[in-house]
Amino acid sequence: MGIKIVGSGLYVPTSKLSNKQLESIVETTDEWISTRTGIANRHIVSSENTVDLAYESAKRAIEHGNVDPSEIGLIIVATFTPEQLTPSTACLVQSRLRLNHQQMIAFDINAACTGFVYALSIAEQFLKAKTVKKALVIGSEVLSKIMDWEDRSTCVLFGDGAGAAVVEYDDSIEHSFYLNSSGDEQGALKTTKLSVNNPLHQEEIEPIHFYMNGQQVFKFAVTAIKETLTTLLTQNNLSLDDINLVIPHQANKRIIDKVVKDLKASSEQFFLNVSDYGNTSAASIPIALNDAITKQQIKNGDQIMLIGFGGGLTWGGCIVSI
Ligand SMILES: CC(C)(COP(=O)(O)OP(=O)(O)OC[C@H]1O[C@@H](n2cnc3c(N)ncnc32)[C@H](O)[C@@H]1OP(=O)(O)O)[C@@H](O)C(=O)NCCC(=O)NCCS
Repeated sequence: MGIKIVGSGLYVPTSKLSNKQLESIVETTDEWISTRTGIANRHIVSSENTVDLAYESAKRAIEHGNVDPSEIGLIIVATFTPEQLTPSTACLVQSRLRLNHQQMIAFDINAACTGFVYALSIAEQFLKAKTVKKALVIGSEVLSKIMDWEDRSTCVLFGDGAGAAVVEYDDSIEHSFYLNSSGDEQGALKTTKLSVNNPLHQEEIEPIHFYMNGQQVFKFAVTAIKETLTTLLTQNNLSLDDINLVIPHQANKRIIDKVVKDLKASSEQFFLNVSDYGNTSAASIPIALNDAITKQQIKNGDQIMLIGFGGGLTWGGCIVSI
């Protein structure tokens, strides 16, 4: 009973923003960003928005898996930077993909950087119940539209992008999910509130910006990855050597280095591509998954562990097969 990835795709905008370019936007240096985060480049949109990125990654996942689109009954998009509050990104992607067959379910979810893993767990329920045959799970973010481009402590970390996976349920696989959240730690990673302006109550309209307590989040991230990894191994009666590759959310190379050191693991067991994309929130895991396939670091039949952590706070993971 488990999720199998049958198609994978990624799409990032062509326009890039290097650390060097950031030196002329905020008071920072390429050296500071590289050594503190491992990030060299990020892609940011010049004309596209969340639906464009989601659609392109979905199209590529369907092509990669040679999937018959009529078998897709569910689209879930994980995002906290949608294009519109309604219709959902998922419905807009459904329309662009022309998935107009009789029964389709499409909706967005928000679990910040854990969104893709949360979305996969929801898809698993629909697949297990045989409500749908295949699901299209997408993480798509245009974080550049909510960055405070004067705040050097956040704007250098994030990028725009989307990743998608077509998934199905395989009865021969025995894998479980582990998900968690802690709303009490909501202040560590958050956006501005949407202001209320109605005939009875007026608030100042603030731009939507993203804030973070970097050091608190760093400590949380290391703990969250270790807790998720050890829980999943125990739940599934596996050791780390049974997993072909761990794909953690890509936020900061130093977070992953610390986890590897604490677990006395090998860095080769953990996939890393934050250097090229920065932190793309809900898109980071499916982008990394596709990158790992393209770079032939994983192949058909492998068992992969996906681990997310982020705003909420939320964290969790799963073991999937490809
Ligand atoms: C943000 C992060 C890279 C900062 O690294 P750090 O080593 O903790 O750095 P600090 O916050 O201690 O800041 C050190 C100094 O660098 C400065 N600084 C912050 N951003 C800077 C930048 N872009 N360029 C240059 N200096 C910067 C700070 O102002 C501070 O200066 P001070 O000592 O004069 O006060 C790190 O905390 C981190 O990665 N946290 C997790 C963030 C994350 O992953 N968020 C998303 C999770 S989903």
